[in-house]
Amino acid sequence: MRRRVPPPGLAGRTDAAGSSVIREALALTARPEVISFAGGLPASELIDTEGIRAAYDQVLSEAPHRVLQYSVTDGDPELREAVAARLVRGGLAARPDGLLITTGAQQALTLLATVLLEPGDTVLVEEPTYLAALQCFGYAGARVVAVPTDRHGIDVEALADAVERERPKLLYLVPDFQNPTGHTLPLDRRREVARLASARGFWIAEDDPYGELRFRGSRLPWISALEGAADRTVLLGSLSKVVAPGMRLGWLHGPPGLRRAAVLAKQALDLHSSTVDQAAAARYLRNRDLDARLDRVRALYRERCDTLLEALPRVLPPGSTWSRPDGGMFVWVRLPDGWDAAALLPQAVAQDVAYVPGAPFFAGRPDPATLRMSFATHGPADIGEGMRRLARTFARATPAERTRVPAPAGQTGL
Ligand SMILES: Cc1ncc(COP(=O)(O)O)c(C=O)c1O
Repeated sequence: MRRRVPPPGLAGRTDAAGSSVIREALALTARPEVISFAGGLPASELIDTEGIRAAYDQVLSEAPHRVLQYSVTDGDPELREAVAARLVRGGLAARPDGLLITTGAQQALTLLATVLLEPGDTVLVEEPTYLAALQCFGYAGARVVAVPTDRHGIDVEALADAVERERPKLLYLVPDFQNPTGHTLPLDRRREVARLASARGFWIAEDDPYGELRFRGSRLPWISALEGAADRTVLLGSLSKVVAPGMRLGWLHGPPGLRRAAVLAKQALDLHSSTVDQAAAARYLRNRDLDARLDRVRALYRERCDTLLEALPRVLPPGSTWSRPDGGMFVWVRLPDGWDAAALLPQAVAQDVAYVPGAPFFAGRPDPATLRMSFATHGPADIGEGMRRLARTFARATPAERTRVPAPAGQTGL
């Protein structure tokens, strides 16, 4: 047989997406008996399946050839109008032609990285931050630098120092009910972030998939709407947590030059987001009272969050701490020093319960004692049962089981 020459290897940027012990453990949580607090899944029973089906039925019967045909890259005009109207109500001077409809906020993030970042550019992020944003910046070849946070989000003094030292091109923030911590950035810090961006010259990516899920306190303005921020802030939004994640619809709102570049980048990526899904979403937003629906979602999430928070003192080992979110889907837990949430995950899965270890959410040095729990997916009865299983996990863990296991080389993330 003739000698075969192997094809060249994959691009170096694929290294960052290697396999993971955590991913393998979480794969086991697909078993139906497992109560998982791991995924960032909106509650399935709160998705308005009937209303969404009616919207699809209508657009498919009224204009089948339009909604099953190719369309423009910017997005369905009616959907852009509906989204712009919601943004205006939230205090942003948004216009439909300032919006680009994307395949989820995740694609908006990829487009932003594509049009803004050269390999080696510096991106500042909250520590910890949304894992898939870290992956996205990793693929762009960016240098990601972590900025410390406290229970109110990013520490603005540390941010000012980091800006001075690192000369970042971009700051990535999730100001409302952050993933993974659940923290919300107060107004004075939002103002300081806008002031710094204006004075020092950097872009802000304001990622806000959770803002409409506030169940305590009152709404804060977007950084995008604050003085001096409009020409350098890109707001990313999504229908995933308020309508249905499977429709994969999000948006990017930003200054005209950046938006134009993002439209061209999207053209090269996927031409446009699904015509029929956009048309159905626009029809859904026209026909249904999303705000009335969201009132119910918020009330339920509040109940679920409180059920989880109320159980935590009985479940976690003494000396643990946790966040108390005002909305969104996540509670961030820190176990006592010396505990390792990743080492304990297989014990939890053996008890038919799961969470996400916190380490992969760190851009800098991970804190192995941290973990993220979502309260959104399950009702109070399942949350109660899940917490009893977690209590057993923590109570029974031997010192060897709850302390650090070094990850084999090349294993990162999840
Ligand atoms: C902070 C953050 N940004 C973006 C996304 C992606 O959302 P989408 O479903 O709109 O792509 C998520 C999803 O969990 C998220 O938590």
